[in-house]
Amino acid sequence: MTTEDPLLYVRGAAVSYRTRAGTVTAVDGVDLTVRRGEIVALVGESGCGKSSLGRAVLRLEPLVGGEVRFGGVDLGTLSGAPLRQVRRRLQMVFQDPQSSLDPRRTVGAIVERPLRVHRVGTPAQRREKVAMTLDLVGLGTRYLDRYPAALSGGQRQRVGIARALVLDPDLLVCDEPVSALDVSIQAQILELLLDLRERLGLALLFIAHDLAVVRHLADQVAVMYLGRIVERGSVDEMFARPRHPYTQALLSAAPVPDVAVERARTLPLATGDLPDPLSPPSGCAFRTRCPHARPVCAEVSPALVNDVACHRQDELPPFVSHASHTGG
Ligand SMILES: Nc1ncnc2c1ncn2[C@@H]1O[C@H](COP(=O)(O)OP(=O)(O)OP(=O)(O)O)[C@@H](O)[C@H]1O
Ligand SMILES: [Mg+2]
Repeated sequence: MTTEDPLLYVRGAAVSYRTRAGTVTAVDGVDLTVRRGEIVALVGESGCGKSSLGRAVLRLEPLVGGEVRFGGVDLGTLSGAPLRQVRRRLQMVFQDPQSSLDPRRTVGAIVERPLRVHRVGTPAQRREKVAMTLDLVGLGTRYLDRYPAALSGGQRQRVGIARALVLDPDLLVCDEPVSALDVSIQAQILELLLDLRERLGLALLFIAHDLAVVRHLADQVAVMYLGRIVERGSVDEMFARPRHPYTQALLSAAPVPDVAVERARTLPLATGDLPDPLSPPSGCAFRTRCPHARPVCAEVSPALVNDVACHRQDELPPFVSHASHTGG
């Protein structure tokens, strides 16, 4: 690996599922790059393929197309011990700490388990590493002998993060790690993740369905719709000048605390539900909900041009962002 290689480099990734009703293309040719220490958010509605992509990055889901490179190495070419070595450096944090933590094991045993599985260190070294990691996530060793049931939701997610960190990974794939938590607790966990990036140089691929959640966390954002990335860019650009009608709709959907601004909204909200992924619309998948759709949108699937996949990106009315009024 050279220092110029991005940590994670995904090109043309495709994931599909065969169901009784037909084949669902959950991820359809996605490109994504995460650099060392960078936080990249993947945002989109339920069912757009975020978890499928996250799992494919960790090779928990097979790719039917494209490639995933980690530190310059194509994961598809690895198996056995070399693959295990790479997978140590790539860990996942799950949405629901309640169901992802084994209720019969203590916090200490849960956090130690990856070290045992990968046969790292002596028992004494492992105990020390577990204690250090619990400190790192703000829990401390007094939690070692507790069971998940005795913890709050936020504490459980800290255990989930400790378990992901104990092998000293370079990248965490966080799949909606705060959506099951109360809003006040969400902020604390996001703060913890930012702090870990700062202290450990950790990179994150952070999956969320809500753009607002990633605003103060992410460096880069990729917006996904029905298996494809429709817009990507820096988080500041995305909030100041969302360019895809879908990104604009996502921003419009976020509540605005400022009453005057909220009232003045004349924004195009996407109407209707996500189309059936078994039979996606022809052309641009978003056209059935898009206020700006034209006949061409039904005919040709738009490519990502200047980081936006929209036939009409040069003709759209300027988007007046109220999101810049929402604190911070
Ligand atoms: N194991 C599976 N078998 C069949 N279809 C699946 C499977 N997992 C996901 N899908 C389908 O693939 C598509 C993408 O699902 P995925 O879970 O990746 O979306 P998501 O963006 O993570 O959604 P959510 O926000 O609800 O977690 C959906 O249409 C979903 O129904
Ligand atoms: Mg998901």
